[in-house]
Amino acid sequence: MKVLDLLTRYKFDTNLNSSSVIEDLKQGNTLVLIENFPLSDDAFESFINTIGVSIIENRNNNRKAVFNVKIVKQNSFFESIANSNLAFPLHTDCADFNSIPNCIGLLCVEPATLKQGESTFMFLNEVINQLSEKRIEELLNKKWKFRNQSRSILTLENKTYKICYDRITIESFSEISKIEIDELNKLDELFESNSFDIKLKKGDLILFRNDLMLHGRKGIDIDSKRLIKRIRFTIS
Ligand SMILES: [Fe+2]
Repeated sequence: MKVLDLLTRYKFDTNLNSSSVIEDLKQGNTLVLIENFPLSDDAFESFINTIGVSIIENRNNNRKAVFNVKIVKQNSFFESIANSNLAFPLHTDCADFNSIPNCIGLLCVEPATLKQGESTFMFLNEVINQLSEKRIEELLNKKWKFRNQSRSILTLENKTYKICYDRITIESFSEISKIEIDELNKLDELFESNSFDIKLKKGDLILFRNDLMLHGRKGIDIDSKRLIKRIRFTIS
């Protein structure tokens, strides 16, 4: 798979028209990369506001839309998984929310040092083509527990398959059987084999669908200064 085919590139300038970015995200078969994006929360928030509706969370900067993904330790514990140096396996964000945002924006303010902290992605379309009809049926029907939500990994909406997958959430809040662990291991293998890496540069803003692809990241050094600003949002 050639990574470049999966990226739609733009260069930021104040006249950047968000309508083509909206169209790319609606189509959902590409990652949108905007280079030279300004590094401030305000610029990030106002641009996303021209595309969709941001999710506001208490833990975000000023309780608004931007969350700083960086290492934060409190009494030698990480403040959250997002504030750790750990690798994140491929997942959907907010799999346990009542309403899952269908898009994510990640703005690279400070990249990790060479060969660390790469972002990983996987397009659901690629995987669907490799699954038997029977397997797709199973993934549409079987419900998994994402904290308080009971959801299937695949759903079919207007002839489009969508995905909701976060193994850490599934396994953190419910007992699963040996057979189910094997099932998830096989899925993880399939997802991994279809994934690709992108190393974000300073000023790269990447926008992608949270319901049509999975994302993750490679691990980083414990003292890394890597800083990625994140906004989760929904386009209609
Ligand atoms: Fe995530």
